[in-house]
Amino acid sequence: TIDERVDDLLKKMTLEEKIGQLNQYTNDANLTGPLVIKPNKQEEIKKGLLGSMLNVMGVERTRKYQELALQSRLKIPLLFGLDVIHGYKTTFPIPLAEAASWDLEAIEKSARVAAEEASASGIHWTFAPMVDISRDPRWGRVMEGAGEDTYLGSKIAIARVKGFQGNKLGELNSVMACAKHFAAYGAAVGGRDYNSVDMSDRMLWETYLPPFKAAVDAGAATFMNSFNDLNGIPATGNKYLQRDILKGKWNFNGFVVSDWGSIGEMIDHGFAKDSKDAALKAIIAGSDMDMESNAYRNNLKQLVEEKKVSVELIDDAVRRILRKKFELGLFENPFRYSDSERQKKQLNNPEHTKAAREVASKSIVLLKNENGILPLSKNVKTIGFIGPMVKLKRANHGFWAVELKEIDSSYIVSQWEGMLNKIGRNTKLLYAKGCGILDNDKSGFKEALEIANQSDVVVVSIGERHDMSGEAKSRSSINIPGVQEDLIKELQKTGKPIVVLINAGRPLVFNWIADNMPTIVYTWWLGSEAGNAIADVIFGDYNPSGKLPMTFPRTEGQIPIYYNHYNTGRPIKNDNDIVYKSGYIDITNSPKFPFGYGLSYTNFDYSNLKLSKTKITNKESIQVTMDIKNSGKFDGEEVVQLYIRDRFGSVVRPVKELKDFQKINLKAGETKTLTFIIDNQKLSFYNEKLEFGSESGEFDLMIGSSSDDIRLKDTFELID
Ligand code: IFM
Repeated sequence: TIDERVDDLLKKMTLEEKIGQLNQYTNDANLTGPLVIKPNKQEEIKKGLLGSMLNVMGVERTRKYQELALQSRLKIPLLFGLDVIHGYKTTFPIPLAEAASWDLEAIEKSARVAAEEASASGIHWTFAPMVDISRDPRWGRVMEGAGEDTYLGSKIAIARVKGFQGNKLGELNSVMACAKHFAAYGAAVGGRDYNSVDMSDRMLWETYLPPFKAAVDAGAATFMNSFNDLNGIPATGNKYLQRDILKGKWNFNGFVVSDWGSIGEMIDHGFAKDSKDAALKAIIAGSDMDMESNAYRNNLKQLVEEKKVSVELIDDAVRRILRKKFELGLFENPFRYSDSERQKKQLNNPEHTKAAREVASKSIVLLKNENGILPLSKNVKTIGFIGPMVKLKRANHGFWAVELKEIDSSYIVSQWEGMLNKIGRNTKLLYAKGCGILDNDKSGFKEALEIANQSDVVVVSIGERHDMSGEAKSRSSINIPGVQEDLIKELQKTGKPIVVLINAGRPLVFNWIADNMPTIVYTWWLGSEAGNAIADVIFGDYNPSGKLPMTFPRTEGQIPIYYNHYNTGRPIKNDNDIVYKSGYIDITNSPKFPFGYGLSYTNFDYSNLKLSKTKITNKESIQVTMDIKNSGKFDGEEVVQLYIRDRFGSVVRPVKELKDFQKINLKAGETKTLTFIIDNQKLSFYNEKLEFGSESGEFDLMIGSSSDDIRLKDTFELID
């Protein structure tokens, strides 16, 4: 068995070789430049003193490194890891955008395609999915997660792990997944990246941990810990998180990699005296692999000799890493991921382009469509396509796109090209940039106005630059940067129908546009097929179906804002009675756009709600059925969302909690009956003692088209 083989190998290893397996270094050159392996690193690898590399890409490069590792005494192959976050060569929408699709099959498919391409390019392991829940759009990394909701986030975590890893670890075309960042990284105070997190255990268990647990249950091979401290203990040195919960209670048998330098950063946190102390604290806490700190490499041997760290502890970490190398089949063939034929085929696979376009169109959220301006007719005579995002290919790619500069980037479809691909012979497409993304120069407004005046309809594409959301990209003000909003104010004066496309890596605040523009499409950063996908939606070849996975605030002052908040003892019941109520004197509590919100070109009627029982014990479940009809003129998809409210409990419960959803496709005029099951799991929560279970009492059941658009309601009771 693999475990026997691991034990056999372990017996042959010296302490230095064991510690070597716990080291991970980055590539010496930039990702795609000429390969440079520094002589000292070559020597280390040849001596078997390195377990893994990150940021080495491509068959040739990974092969070179692997050849060095195979010159070592025990010929233990290296693992190659990379941040394949939303696609490898074919870029998919950023994860937050994909979450807006609420389409688990599409999300799994996107991860599958990424795995097919990356694994053909020498990569064994992606540092994804990021399953951090976040309720703070100021935090730049919201772009990389699934948004604010634990239930949706857990389902997406499963889909992405399955997509990356396939049916079984070691299948060709698959990579190891890495659930990150363990834990609570998304709750950084003030939305400032790397900042501290202070939260109750109950909040941790109920809201932030479930997507990680879901990833473990789905078989995630690895975890990454995180930069933040949690209640005063850095996650990297946090034994409670890594040993007690992850490896103990959850029985995780993969390995934990630190985040970049996070072992060493425990010195800056003020948690470790020096690098040696940091290494000691990290290994005891359960961090198995040291990414780029050199803390294990420089200190673990001495710590063992001083009997501060036991060999058993080192063996446990090494065993976990070796097990994965065996499971990946690297001992049988260390070059099985380095096949140039496969690389060539997978990096030029038209099926992948098709998938990227499909997922991109499903991720688009239609926020407003007054007067039915969209979809545009393909016979419209003149379209003015205006704005700094129109021709920018990089804009669509977003943050965390793998930088494949050496490969021709012509495959990335700009919004301009997408539109050109779509329009008929009789349509004229005009362009003006109007302004930049960040600067305050308004000199391009004049040309933009001229173009708008010549057009029958104006489409304006604005938003955040690709590097404005992502790691270390927190913003205190999440407005539309530069003078882009002013450009639209000018364009409005032409009286032309205007469609606004907003490209961004997070929810933004854009009140003037939201209040004054009739048609708004939130296009996030959609990847290499963005242009085609956007054109599909604009002309109605795809009827938009995306729903917001995060609440959009009216102002940064409302943050954190999320739909599943507690009621408080002083809730605002109506906006005219706010004095001494839990609110603000200068703004309503309601968001600009609520969680789960998104329009379609058609309408869906909800009816006929039936519950199989209205009183159940905790051993029973309720079958809920309802009808949904597409009563409009377009075929379309709807995300039917089921929420519950536990009216009272031994600890307070949220005003609404998503407990199920279905994304369904309905032809115009078609009706379907949907069935949901409410079981005890869905009614359970963590009580004061952190016991998970349900409590008897009354529940509200709410089904709707968004968290704020509940169409069907009933109540039921849980009895002893
Ligand atoms: O995987 C990432 C992590 O999410 C943030 N720091 C760097 C790592 C490796 O690139």
